[in-house]
Amino acid sequence: MAHINLGVFVSGRGSNLQSIIDASAAGRIAASVHVVISDKEDAYALERARNHDIPAYHVPVGKNDTPEFVAADQRHVELLREHNVDLVCLAGYMRLIGPNIFAAYPEAILNIHPALLPSFPGTHGQEDAAEYGVKVSGCTVHFAWSEFDTGPIIIQAAVPVLAGDDGDSLAARILAQEHKIYPQAIQWCAEGRLRIEGRRVILEDARPPTIMEAIISPGLEV
Ligand code: GRF
Repeated sequence: MAHINLGVFVSGRGSNLQSIIDASAAGRIAASVHVVISDKEDAYALERARNHDIPAYHVPVGKNDTPEFVAADQRHVELLREHNVDLVCLAGYMRLIGPNIFAAYPEAILNIHPALLPSFPGTHGQEDAAEYGVKVSGCTVHFAWSEFDTGPIIIQAAVPVLAGDDGDSLAARILAQEHKIYPQAIQWCAEGRLRIEGRRVILEDARPPTIMEAIISPGLEV
């Protein structure tokens, strides 16, 4: 299996970045983080990267559709190429990425969202789910399209919403699952097993379900 090089975009604390670094160090994924890029100079994620001797860059982005945004888009691609990145992972990156990255990395940009898309897109997925009163929420890893939170879904994990939950308590429960499904999605990419068909992502050569999974989920063929 190929070993793939990751470029991770972050804006904040970087716990998903850390879960990817840890999965790589433990040999659970055939991938390693080659560069970390942030729009925020003080993002704790940059410090996490530096703690692991991973090149980490602050690239100011400016407002959308400004010359600064266009320059940042070009700089992003330069950095990704310079560090031989195969797969781009958006991990709590709070800005749009530009058209040059989409052109340079077709079908090779992943994003994680803290809700079960297409429900609760946007920047407050956990609070919105808690306030709406859904009984189940979760997280989604998907291929990024230029519009936020829209691309084909690779994997989701569900968590219960409990009585008394607010956005923060729900976010913590969801985050624990994020740290599992992002490395899993990356591993499937490394294994070359994901194929996009329209809105659907097909996992090639999936192992047959175990007898226990078939009992839990009637309809699965063992
Ligand atoms: C995560 O909840 C992620 O799903 C969302 O932003 C948050 C980033 O957290 N896009 P962290 O920076 O990875 O800790």
